[in-house]
Amino acid sequence: MAVTRTFSIIKPDATRRNLTGAVTKMLEEAGLRVAASKRIHMTREQAEGFYDVHRERPFFGELVEFMISGPVVVQVLEGEDAVKRNRDVMGATNPADADEGTIRKTYAESIEANSVHGSDSDENAAKEIAFFFNDDEIVG
Ligand code: CMP
Repeated sequence: MAVTRTFSIIKPDATRRNLTGAVTKMLEEAGLRVAASKRIHMTREQAEGFYDVHRERPFFGELVEFMISGPVVVQVLEGEDAVKRNRDVMGATNPADADEGTIRKTYAESIEANSVHGSDSDENAAKEIAFFFNDDEIVG
């Protein structure tokens, strides 16, 4: 199976609780490598642009407010079948539906404050990586 890339965000609920290392450990133990990582405080424009696909959803406004409520850690993850591998270890969007042993089951507070984001396809991974990283920031 090919080594591919995905994009991850450790969200404000997790950074607030000092869980950056704990979440990253679960990603690494799932066979993913952090090829790039930076801690940023998203601007409103970044959050709105990143979640543009959800602009018409009723939760869009609250989602943007939450994502700019504190720092996040944006990461490029590499591994075999990285998108699926990451989604498997993240667990379901709603932590109430997430399997035992997943990041969201272990750490998420709610469907909104769900600790991590992960790309849902290779195509979106490439777009999301390019939204936050220049090529020379991805060092492997
Ligand atoms: P994420 O994978 O980052 O993609 C969109 C985010 O919207 C999702 O995780 C949740 O944090 C947030 N969200 C808030 N409410 C809902 C909802 N009702 N359904 C789906 N996503 C929601």
